[in-house]
Amino acid sequence: MRRLFIAGNWKMNMTAADAVKFISEIKDDLVAIENIDIAFCPTFLSVPAVSEALAGTSIGVGAQNMYFEPSGAYTGEVSPAMVAEFCQYVILGHSERRGYFGETDQGVNQKAKAALAAGLTPIICVGETLDQNEAGETTTFVSGQVANALDGLTGEQVSKLVMAYEPIWAIGTGRTASAEDANAIIGTAVRGTIENLFGSSVSEKVRIQYGGSVKPSNVNELMGKEHIDGALVGGASLKSSFVELLQNAL
Ligand code: PGA
Repeated sequence: MRRLFIAGNWKMNMTAADAVKFISEIKDDLVAIENIDIAFCPTFLSVPAVSEALAGTSIGVGAQNMYFEPSGAYTGEVSPAMVAEFCQYVILGHSERRGYFGETDQGVNQKAKAALAAGLTPIICVGETLDQNEAGETTTFVSGQVANALDGLTGEQVSKLVMAYEPIWAIGTGRTASAEDANAIIGTAVRGTIENLFGSSVSEKVRIQYGGSVKPSNVNELMGKEHIDGALVGGASLKSSFVELLQNAL
């Protein structure tokens, strides 16, 4: 059985002070939730404060990005070791990074290797645009993203990382993929591709999240599906009703 993993991606929201206040309001409720791995992914500047606010709990902290080089003259970037000082997870290849900041499959692959080498668990995001979806290209496109992101990794490394299938048209739009569609695409394009490349003992272990307008009212149906092992939650992770979302997930 793969344990559910639900992560809040706060994107460019909340100052460190806002984040600490928010965590203090919901912390008691969060620690009472059993059988789900939980993590928050704040902006880099809030990571140390959130990590401190969550110290002594089993709730994890993740970064939203990192650079793959270990150190050097890369103004504005953050290295894997810098992330690993405070975080267990790092989101890689989010569609907003790909879309607004030009991240490529190859860059995501370099970052995945560097994250694993630093002891981090990457949460690697894949997902198609609305045009690709409507053109019937979802499976081919997402399979390609998965294969490129995992190129050169060992089966053992892949079995430990987390994938997130996030159809771009469902992110922040209130439109969610139906649980059936999300499960089918995750089962074929994500888990199926991993099975083809690394074998079923690996593909059965890897946890795959769904992301895109997950909320307290739809999380249960999504999490009930065979191939969906968690969620990457944006907007709904910024509200105290995130607790309700987590409670409803099981
Ligand atoms: P959303 O974002 O839940 O606000 O749709 C999800 C994500 O981008 O990870």
